Amino acid sequence: MIPLLPPGPPDEHVLVVEDDPASARVLRSILEQAGYRVSLAHDGPEALAELDRELPDLLLLDWMLPGISGLEVCHRARQRWNALALPILIVTAKNDPESVYAAFDAGASDHIAKPFRGAEIRARIAAHLRTKALVEERGRMEEHLREREKLSSLGLLASGVAHDLNNPLAVIYGHAQLILRRDPDPAAEDHVRAIMSGVERCRRIVGDLLDFARGRPGTHEPVDVPALVRSTLAMREGDLRDAGIAAVLELPPELPGVTGDAHQLQQVFLNVILNAEQAMRDAGRTLRISASADAAAGADDGGAGWVSVDFFNDGPSIPPEVLPRIFEPFFTTKPKDEGTGLGLAISRRIVREHGGEILAESRQGGTVFRVRLPARVG
Ligand SMILES: Nc1ncnc2c1ncn2[C@@H]1O[C@H](COP(=O)(O)OP(=O)(O)OP(=O)(O)O)[C@@H](O)[C@H]1O
Ligand SMILES: [Mg+2]
Repeated sequence: MIPLLPPGPPDEHVLVVEDDPASARVLRSILEQAGYRVSLAHDGPEALAELDRELPDLLLLDWMLPGISGLEVCHRARQRWNALALPILIVTAKNDPESVYAAFDAGASDHIAKPFRGAEIRARIAAHLRTKALVEERGRMEEHLREREKLSSLGLLASGVAHDLNNPLAVIYGHAQLILRRDPDPAAEDHVRAIMSGVERCRRIVGDLLDFARGRPGTHEPVDVPALVRSTLAMREGDLRDAGIAAVLELPPELPGVTGDAHQLQQVFLNVILNAEQAMRDAGRTLRISASADAAAGADDGGAGWVSVDFFNDGPSIPPEVLPRIFEPFFTTKPKDEGTGLGLAISRRIVREHGGEILAESRQGGTVFRVRLPARVG
């Protein structure tokens, strides 16, 4: 199973670039004691390669390095990454004003004079990481707002289309009824009834669209998650079998309940399962759905913890440039007649309205979607 990120933030990662082994050791121990995850580069090229491999939360950079100087590393790092995304702290014995200006000119976020004190380094790092967290939080909120705007324009569109469809549907239904009444031909009756049931289905879809456009408030009822998973999977069982996909269920006997709208949550599970099926069309054999309870997380906010359902499939992984976009409304990598790119956007909205979150992780070997819902209190 691919480990999904735990609910809390992971350890913050500091990349230290220092060529002197003694100083590097000291810095590492200062930072590790403060709870940071530390990695080390010994010169400029190594630092740039490391930045390419994994962007840390903060870069602590010695100025005097063999080959490319710390200042040059700082400059190049700034050209590649957004200024606020990466705090860069330059540590140097060059304390004259000109050097300090030069450091800031190269894009440093801060200048720390050698010899430094551990407490000062820790305090400065903590301050920069706090600012970074605020900036990131703001970015997330802005993204959230943009999505809401997109969804609300979608809502307007949907309600317009739904409204216009209702009239012709009513005409078709009315004429079908007339045929049944006036011309009770047994050979035609089955066909006419099929037309009527098709129209009823269209009306339900139109109704759902209208509900979605108006932001239908969900119900608040006890929901039995394992039962809901089973019934959703049952809807896809035939197709999964035909596609040669094995569905494995790992549902613990005792799982806290959640509160919410079973119909909406089923829509979420179904979207995620359909995506997994579609992803495994060319490669992949297994859909594994497992549920678990996480008592610790959430309990500190007075909650009863979380119930998580993981949907894993061993199809091709989602490319890293695609992964951040999959929850955007209308984002799809599928052909026009196959995907509208709404499945995950709607799912995320539903899960968030339930006080939960939907997360995705993908790497070679498979993809997992986790639907995390607050457990029912009491
Ligand atoms: N299990 C998965 N494996 C690989 N890619 C996935 C998976 N789930 C989603 N994706 C990617 O995320 C994109 C968005 O998914 P989403 O469900 O929102 O839309 P869609 O499936 O393309 O269309 P729709 O659900 O509206 O029919 C997909 O086009 C696909 O690229
Ligand atoms: Mg989909």
